[in-house]
Amino acid sequence: MARFDSPKAIVTGGGCRAQAGELLVSLHAQRTLIVVDPFFASAEFVSEIRAALTRTGIESELFTNFQPDPTDQNVFAGVGRFSKFGADSILAIGGGSAIDVAKIIGVAAANPGPVSQFQGYDRVANSGPALVAVPTTAGTGSEATKVAVITDTTRNVKMMILDAKLMPTAAVVDFELTFSMPKPLTAHVGVDALTHGIEAYVSRKANPLTDPVALSAITKIHANLPTAWSDPGNEKAREAMSLAALQGGLAFTNSSVCLVHGMSRPLGLVFRLPHGLSNSVLLPAVTRFSWPGAKARYAEIARAIRLAAGKSSDESACESLAEWLDQLNRDLEVPRLRDCCGGDVTKFRVSLPKMAADALESGSPQNNPIVPAESQIIELFEVAW
Ligand SMILES: NC(=O)c1ccc[n+]([C@@H]2O[C@H](COP(=O)([O-])OP(=O)(O)OC[C@H]3O[C@@H](n4cnc5c(N)ncnc54)[C@H](O)[C@@H]3O)[C@@H](O)[C@H]2O)c1
Ligand SMILES: [Fe+2]
Repeated sequence: MARFDSPKAIVTGGGCRAQAGELLVSLHAQRTLIVVDPFFASAEFVSEIRAALTRTGIESELFTNFQPDPTDQNVFAGVGRFSKFGADSILAIGGGSAIDVAKIIGVAAANPGPVSQFQGYDRVANSGPALVAVPTTAGTGSEATKVAVITDTTRNVKMMILDAKLMPTAAVVDFELTFSMPKPLTAHVGVDALTHGIEAYVSRKANPLTDPVALSAITKIHANLPTAWSDPGNEKAREAMSLAALQGGLAFTNSSVCLVHGMSRPLGLVFRLPHGLSNSVLLPAVTRFSWPGAKARYAEIARAIRLAAGKSSDESACESLAEWLDQLNRDLEVPRLRDCCGGDVTKFRVSLPKMAADALESGSPQNNPIVPAESQIIELFEVAW
């Protein structure tokens, strides 16, 4: 049995950001809180969307008071603004952080109590308001997922919140908003999207509807991420990456992520690494650990992107995939884990038991082709170091 959730409408293509206003009108919005990444707060297109809303009688207010990898405190601040303004709808514009904080502002406004009440699966009682999501990175796919990641500042845990009520009502995927991403951001979010595709495909929850979507995302990323990184103004590569990120989100939210994401969240929290970077440094080592549990699946990925000939053995195809992931990190100048952590091996060693326990606690490693013991997760962190 499988279930496939998606936004009610997905609009794609260069310039489609202008349609965000029309979508809000069709959703009967009257007062919209615009949760916008600080990078875009004074962007012309945001003023244009606001002007279009005003022309149709929709009032709007901006909320920009949140950080990358947002926290429960950011959510509280947002709920305060949502209520004070009397909002009935949300427009989220930004990377995964803007979209995730917007999702949880919406459900927190509809369900009093701490944000931690939502942690885990299906813990949201009342739906939030209509949400239109406009991504500006090509990575998380949050515009089409029923997931949000919010840091609990009291327990110092990145909470994964999964509920169909978090699926945005509409997604507006305009690749032109991604041209301004600097090279490291393009690399990190691109490998995040790749990780979504790979994990969705090898997950124990993979299903016939998510498989083609995941493979299509992986194929696009293989063909376009290096170009989007080296030639940031390349329209074809940016468009393909935005679509791949969307597909990666649709695939993993209807299948699952696995061990890379399980380990990446605590690692990112301890060393303050952006989500995509903490995935990138783990992906090759975790792939080598995991492929013996699903040789045929990893080999299909390698063959789909022509890393291995049709006649090659599954084992050699899987190894080609792991080698390509190492090479991709080198090509995109992704640092090794030890360099991301300032070489602080003492802090790394001290943190290992809690990081491994938090990884298992999140539930993601349980979807991996090989479900690791805590000691194996510690070994994998050491390999990546
Ligand atoms: N909900 C989901 O399904 C899901 C999936 C994966 C990750 N996440 C979460 O999403 C967050 C990461 O999101 P992200 O990787 O998109 O990055 P982000 O939203 O945290 O943004 C990173 C930085 O890039 C800037 N930025 C955003 N768009 C830009 C652009 N077009 N040009 C220049 N700068 C830009 C932002 O201002 C910020 O400083 C993490 O909290 C992660 O855990 C969510
Ligand atoms: Fe991710």
